[in-house]
Amino acid sequence: MTKRLRVAVLFGGRSAEHEVSIASANSVIRALDPARYEVVPIGIGKDGRWLVGDSAQKLLADTLRKGRHVLLPPEPGGRGLLPFEAKAGGRAVGIDVVFPVLHGTYGEDGTMQGLLDLAGLPYVGCGVLASAVGMDKEVQKRLFEFASLPVVKYLSVPRSRWEAKREEVLEQVQSHFGFPVFVKPATLGSSVGMTKAHDAAQLSTGLDLAAEFAQKILIERAIDGREIEVAVLGNRQPRASVPGEIVPHREFYDYVAKYTEEGTQLVVPAPLHPRQTTRVQEFAVRAFQAVEGRGMARVDFFLERRTGRLYLSEINTIPGFTSISMYPRLWQASGVPYGELIDRLIELALEEHQEKQRTRFSFDPPPGGGVLSG
Ligand SMILES: Nc1ncnc2c1ncn2[C@@H]1O[C@H](COP(=O)(O)OP(=O)(O)O)[C@@H](O)[C@H]1O
Ligand SMILES: [Mg+2]
Repeated sequence: MTKRLRVAVLFGGRSAEHEVSIASANSVIRALDPARYEVVPIGIGKDGRWLVGDSAQKLLADTLRKGRHVLLPPEPGGRGLLPFEAKAGGRAVGIDVVFPVLHGTYGEDGTMQGLLDLAGLPYVGCGVLASAVGMDKEVQKRLFEFASLPVVKYLSVPRSRWEAKREEVLEQVQSHFGFPVFVKPATLGSSVGMTKAHDAAQLSTGLDLAAEFAQKILIERAIDGREIEVAVLGNRQPRASVPGEIVPHREFYDYVAKYTEEGTQLVVPAPLHPRQTTRVQEFAVRAFQAVEGRGMARVDFFLERRTGRLYLSEINTIPGFTSISMYPRLWQASGVPYGELIDRLIELALEEHQEKQRTRFSFDPPPGGGVLSG
């Protein structure tokens, strides 16, 4: 019998999407086949503490109160967690692969991926680069534009500029776009801090609000369009799923529509013309490659009603993972059931780790050619 793989599932975290993450982790943990995997559930509190529990269910149910406090040392070779208090008898917990089921800051933005790289652990999903880019709506747009992908017309304003030159910024936005526009923090998800502004007064309060949540504010032309999403899976040869459609029952897909209301409909597959389907899938793969994605991502689009034009909206490197979330549903509809999807993501994590291991990190200078003398 082959040894079971120890999979650490990371959930919770220091982000506005803490609760969503717990729900996603619940589904992931239930789908990990106990014959093949040994699950080590790791809950991260809102205070950032890492807690390990004996049973995932208990840890999830107790909302992180009863776990053992552990640390992940940022040095390679340890391959696991250490007890926070180095008492005699405190057990280290070995880990083979990590599945970060974390959304937003300190989970999806590259910081966690950096720690896991330092610790030398394989992990599911994008690396530091794609994760950080995926969290910055402006930088990703620049990469998409460079890859000739269609992005919505936008303007990025550092909040220091908004604070110093309010009139100038208001003037610039109005002359560039007209109304309505979307105003959002450039580095946040789940529609937090976002406004659809219909006039100058709303624009001004929208800019103030977004400035509370990020150092950079993004203003976009508002598209009157259908919202289409595609799931991407793979490392260097990624595949795209069938597209799905989000039909929000509110003015836009805001926080309430995303997480608290029943009204929003997910239509899978999205009713599209076969040509549109092919195009949106091709754009999704190219977007994934533009940010050098690994493992998984969900790529979101707008299909403008008036013109039929497709615009890339954003890439999400750790999409929602509850059994009714878009990412797993899209794969289900593409012939990859939930359990198989999790297996594949773990395989991709191990493959990517091996690929990383092939890189040399030391360099012997040639004789006589001292590094410091050059
Ligand atoms: N430029 C835009 N035009 C039309 N709707 C938009 C635009 N930007 C955002 N929205 C609406 O707001 C929602 C959330 O915006 P998004 O940029 O996807 O942020 P988040 O990262 O929080 O999901 C979108 O799903 C869409 O409903
Ligand atoms: Mg979005």
